[in-house]
Amino acid sequence: MDNSTQKMESIVSLAKRRGFIYQGSDIYGGLSGTWDYGPLGVTLKRNIIQLWWRIFVEERDDMYGVDAAILMNQKVWQASGHVDTFTDPLVECSHCHARLRADKLDDPNKCPVCGKEGTFGEARQFNMMFKTNVGPVDDESSISYLRPETAQGIFTNYKNILDSFYPDLPFGLAQQGKAFRNEISPRDFIFRSREFEQMEIEYFVDPEKWEESFEHWRQQVWRWTQALGLPDDHVHELEVSESDRAHYSKRTIDFEFDFPIGREELLGLAYRTDFDLQNIQRVAGKNMDYTIKGTNRKFVPHVIEPSFGVERALMAVLSSAYTEDEINGEKRVYLKLPEHLAPVRYAVSPLVRNKPELVEKARTVYEALKKKYGAVMWDDNGNIGKRYRRQDEIGTPYCVVVDFQTLEDDTVTIRHRDTTEQTRTPVSEV
Ligand code: GAP
Repeated sequence: MDNSTQKMESIVSLAKRRGFIYQGSDIYGGLSGTWDYGPLGVTLKRNIIQLWWRIFVEERDDMYGVDAAILMNQKVWQASGHVDTFTDPLVECSHCHARLRADKLDDPNKCPVCGKEGTFGEARQFNMMFKTNVGPVDDESSISYLRPETAQGIFTNYKNILDSFYPDLPFGLAQQGKAFRNEISPRDFIFRSREFEQMEIEYFVDPEKWEESFEHWRQQVWRWTQALGLPDDHVHELEVSESDRAHYSKRTIDFEFDFPIGREELLGLAYRTDFDLQNIQRVAGKNMDYTIKGTNRKFVPHVIEPSFGVERALMAVLSSAYTEDEINGEKRVYLKLPEHLAPVRYAVSPLVRNKPELVEKARTVYEALKKKYGAVMWDDNGNIGKRYRRQDEIGTPYCVVVDFQTLEDDTVTIRHRDTTEQTRTPVSEV
């Protein structure tokens, strides 16, 4: 096993063991491409989402947040082109009947499952949308889909936002939420899932100024990867060629990250032109024009779309945080998570469990910190060394220990995760 595969396996195993991420429906043998988040995983995920919302919605005055329904009128997906073109090429092995994504095969003539050669027929286009029926009648008119991107819930609300808020151009709508894709081959932990989350922005611009806005968002994407604590030299821009671009895009930059599984897409930045709003105008018969205030100049705005995947951000954060070192000759594993993302910020312990006065004092410190920060854990299991190792493994930046000296001078020991250094600090200053 090479180092990268080993690192990936260590992360997956840590994520399961320590309550970050479990295989979905594990108890029944699992459901491929689905993942459940445990207490630490859900907090880490929420911290990422909240950071995104703060940077791109709350800190700006040109952004409007929305939260659209996942189930939408089937016309949305007909107009957007997803019913006809949201497909991946599928081949089936005539020997073992494995169904595989044709464009991801290492050798297009050899089945990677059974090893037979020449067993694939023609690839057929497989639509990745999950189809369902809404209501008790199971016919063509009741068909709906689980949304494969959050973007369409934004486009369908563009007119509502125009009418309620009269925004100046350029302005954007932002949405975070679940998306579903019936991926042919879900793989690599949460990297390619069938149920995942996106954080998307549709930024409406004057068609003559799209390049300016594209550049603005390109810089903002770098701001985002830095806010996640990802090293710049692990993030790469890939100018996507015309033949590889999505059907709606005139320019796309994929931002890739050096994951342990290799360099892969972290997020995308696309120039979607007026493709979506024109389609809505045509199919829904509603005018999508924007009139520049104080003039008669009107047009259907063009769109710049930065599209962020939550799971990929989380996987990038986990893989750049995962660190192994040696402390006093002993191997240590820790997550060097940025403090603002760590699911637990402080762990509080009494030095020993069998001294009621220490436990009582530690409880007071714990409760005060918990009230202030929320993300604080009580940890009195095992000896202090074991507690440190356990907290290191989940990325807790600080362990606060109440000891006998605390009872005398109201100071505690703060042990720092990255350096393992211990400092003495007055309780009031923690
Ligand atoms: N609205 C544009 C759009 O959906 P995309 O490149 O298909 O574009 C955007 O998806 C982002 O969503 C990707 O860069 C990735 O971060 C995330 N993503 C897409 N498919 C995914 C999957 N199957 N599992 C996890 N994340 C996925």
